[in-house]
Amino acid sequence: MLKSNQPIGIFDSGIGGLTVAEAIHKLLPQENIIYFGDTAHTPWGNQSATAIQYYASRISQTLLDHNCKTIVIACNTASATAFDAVQRIVKDHSILFNVIDPVIEYLVSTHRGKNVGLIGTKQTIKSQAYLSRLTKHTDDINLQALATPLLAPLIEEGFSNTTSANEIIDHYLSNSALQNIAALILGCTHYPLIKQQVANFFGAKVDVIDSAELMAQVVEKELKNRDLLNIGNQGQCTFYVSHDSEFFNLTAKQLFPGDIKLQTYPLWE
Ligand code: DGL
Repeated sequence: MLKSNQPIGIFDSGIGGLTVAEAIHKLLPQENIIYFGDTAHTPWGNQSATAIQYYASRISQTLLDHNCKTIVIACNTASATAFDAVQRIVKDHSILFNVIDPVIEYLVSTHRGKNVGLIGTKQTIKSQAYLSRLTKHTDDINLQALATPLLAPLIEEGFSNTTSANEIIDHYLSNSALQNIAALILGCTHYPLIKQQVANFFGAKVDVIDSAELMAQVVEKELKNRDLLNIGNQGQCTFYVSHDSEFFNLTAKQLFPGDIKLQTYPLWE
């Protein structure tokens, strides 16, 4: 039986999922968090579905071994390609979340009758995970998808604020696939780290949507419904990476200014 004082497990290929972890930590500061960034294999978005399923399954097993009451797949690529594989491991030992469903729920309630753009990794776009989930609710949203495979590696390596990054961002966002949109889904958890640049490109007329806060609200609601919200003091945040990464450490310290634990976890050795 799950208990409220068990930690929340969160994972991604690298720093992207930190945007989701930060939103969860802000909304639920009393929760203990265990984060796993697979920096040994990042980026995931250009790799085969089989490879991503393998990484996601092993990491989820590790989070289960750390007794996590929930596992948040804080990665669109893994949510799109590995959800079922992870679910087979997690079973009812933990509560599993993906980052796509909260965005679909938001879209259906706010953007019916509109053109909505989607940017994400090659695997996320290829999987058509957004389209297939969306059409279960409505056929009244026209999804216009574009793979933007250079963005996650640029962000992961700390290049998001360079002139070259801005040129690449502008190049992608000028693509004809993203014309006449009312909203743009940042379909990769790395992209909130360039949200300002994206918002500047489109101006106020486009609703730039990311999954971080929406995901945090869904986690809160589910834990509350199951009476699993932790009560008490500020939670402990622990961050594991599968390979040393200075930029990961820097980003984690920036997003989590309190006392955090950062550690290399040799999962693949
Ligand atoms: N942040 C992840 C996503 O949402 C992974 C990006 C990558 O590693 O390519 O898709």
